[in-house]
Amino acid sequence: MTGLFISFEGIDGCGKSTQADLLKSHLESKGETVVLIREPGGSIISEQIREILLNPENDTMDASTEAILLAASRSQLTREVIIPALESGHVVICDRYADSTLAYQGYGRGIKLEWLEKLNAFATAGVKPDITLLVDLSVDEALRRMESKSFDRIEMEGVEFLERVRSGYLEMAESFCERYFMLNGLHTIEEMSKMIINKVEEIKSEIN
Ligand code: TYD
Repeated sequence: MTGLFISFEGIDGCGKSTQADLLKSHLESKGETVVLIREPGGSIISEQIREILLNPENDTMDASTEAILLAASRSQLTREVIIPALESGHVVICDRYADSTLAYQGYGRGIKLEWLEKLNAFATAGVKPDITLLVDLSVDEALRRMESKSFDRIEMEGVEFLERVRSGYLEMAESFCERYFMLNGLHTIEEMSKMIINKVEEIKSEIN
């Protein structure tokens, strides 16, 4: 596959979606065709699964069901959107991908990482991001930034859950250091965007 696959990760409220939008605009200004998608979601079927997953009324959903629905959403997205885009040589920017499941359902909910890794391998057909941009922010600061927002079912889990998710991400940044690039979420939007653009340009020139 000739395209470039970039994923953004981080706890809710870290600012990754703003950065994903800015990166898309930059790459498009350089003439790239960019497909920006969010997870869970990003295709018609996956967006329908997203609604079930995030609906606060589904408060009896078991963690196993949650993990399998996330994998179903990812499986459809990967085959319908991501693989064809990469095969056409486009840039794919994913606002969350398989690592979110390890962070939230694994480190956060306590499902065994080895099961989730198998589920992810099946859902992603083995496709991995070329680079994962982790926007790291303390839970306190992230919650402060989200104060005015209404929380979805997973965001309602609270401080301790998000602390576990954050440490999970920090562990993954070490374990998968070949593809992780970590950014301090306290930087201004403009500073962070510059760092991300520099890093992505570096990766692009390495690949070409
Ligand atoms: P997101 O779309 O990033 O939230 P927002 O709409 O606020 O930008 O993600 C929705 C929620 O889904 C978020 O709390 C993280 C959670 N999630 C998981 O728990 N596991 C996953 O694998 C994914 C992709 C998301």
